[in-house]
Amino acid sequence: MEGPPRTLIHLLLLLLCIASKCLGGASGLNSTQMVTLKVDASPKLARKIPDTFLGVFFEEMGHGGAGGIWAELVSNRGFEAGGPNTPSNIDPWLIVGDDSSVYVETDRSSCFSRNIVALRMEVLCNDCPAGGVGIYNPGFWGMNIEDGKTYHLVMYVKSPKTTCLTVSLTSSDGLQNLASVTIIVAGDSKWIKVEKKLVAKGTNRTSRLQITSKKKGTVWLDQVSLMPADTYKGHGFRKGLVSMLMDLKPRFLRFPGGCFVEGGWLRNAFRWRQSIGPWEERPGHFGDCWQYWTDDGLGYYEFLLLSEDIGAAPIWVFNNGISYNDEVNTATIAPFVKDILDSLEFARGSANSTWGSVRAKMGHP
Ligand SMILES: *[C@@H]1O[C@H](CO)[C@@H](O)[C@H](O)[C@H]1NC(C)=O
Ligand SMILES: *[C@@H]1O[C@H](CO)[C@@H](O)[C@H](O)[C@H]1NC(C)=O
Ligand SMILES: *[C@@H]1O[C@H](CO)[C@@H](O)[C@H](O)[C@H]1NC(C)=O
Repeated sequence: MEGPPRTLIHLLLLLLCIASKCLGGASGLNSTQMVTLKVDASPKLARKIPDTFLGVFFEEMGHGGAGGIWAELVSNRGFEAGGPNTPSNIDPWLIVGDDSSVYVETDRSSCFSRNIVALRMEVLCNDCPAGGVGIYNPGFWGMNIEDGKTYHLVMYVKSPKTTCLTVSLTSSDGLQNLASVTIIVAGDSKWIKVEKKLVAKGTNRTSRLQITSKKKGTVWLDQVSLMPADTYKGHGFRKGLVSMLMDLKPRFLRFPGGCFVEGGWLRNAFRWRQSIGPWEERPGHFGDCWQYWTDDGLGYYEFLLLSEDIGAAPIWVFNNGISYNDEVNTATIAPFVKDILDSLEFARGSANSTWGSVRAKMGHP
């Protein structure tokens, strides 16, 4: 962790330095005195270096998780980068078309109670352009879509009238079409989960995901995810990056970070309980140390899986009631202690224990 702790250490060292100078002067030690230090490096005194000595520290900073080792391609998939109130922040989603042909806004009509914000998209044109109008997501730095690869799309959609949506992968200017799929949404105003496979027929490293329509009307969208089908052991991590990680032969993996765990303020710190369970229902949080929203698709469970998959011991960093700017009174630390004990039960408890059963339900008995 950076910041206050390091500053404190520097200050302590400085004080120690001043103090020892004073002591040195007072006792009149002779600075030219000779000292002999004998080092016995014979094998009989050697100690074995533990094989867990070398490992890796994961840091979230600058999208090390989603956008980095975590393969999710959509940034801000739940439209809630601005939190649970509306208008929320839909950045980096933008519209395809212009203000006269499509109108979007956030409202609190999602089917997920812990992340209630959804996007309402109104197609205004009677005679829409050939490619349709709608929205697109450029991912974190453009989506790296590769020829012949399969991508899993999941999204939730609702429409009062039957309509037709086209979901496509295109180049950043929308001109090159790499894959597309058509979705008919029955007009019964109920949220439905849409799952589709998109197979790329071309490569472009700066692609985007588009959701468009040519039919006048209103649709609601929420929790739009696009994942490459081919991830490390099918657990959602980018294969290329995990293989580089494996080359380091780490014997432990520290996660989910330092500052990310601490938070600038406690209210924005990583909370493991909110990062487990079905990804669609995770509320996500604003990581105020690195100043961006994360949907917590890469959560406590996924980090434990990664540790297991690469044969590294998990080192779980938890929040002990302190952030950069605030801290809980020691008298009220009990909920934090409980939080930590429960997190250990989630990781190590039997499938019959309270939190072990939650883990088992997620697919890991
Ligand atoms: C400091 O130690 C050196 C070497 O032992 C000695 O020659 C010198 O006289 C000592 N000086 C004082 C001030 O004690
Ligand atoms: C990817 O798309 C950009 C923007 O349209 C274009 O300039 C570039 O040539 C494309 N790259 C490939 C490999 O087709
Ligand atoms: C869990 O509970 C079941 C049913 O009560 C029991 O048969 C099983 O042995 C328990 N498993 C563990 C690991 O405690």
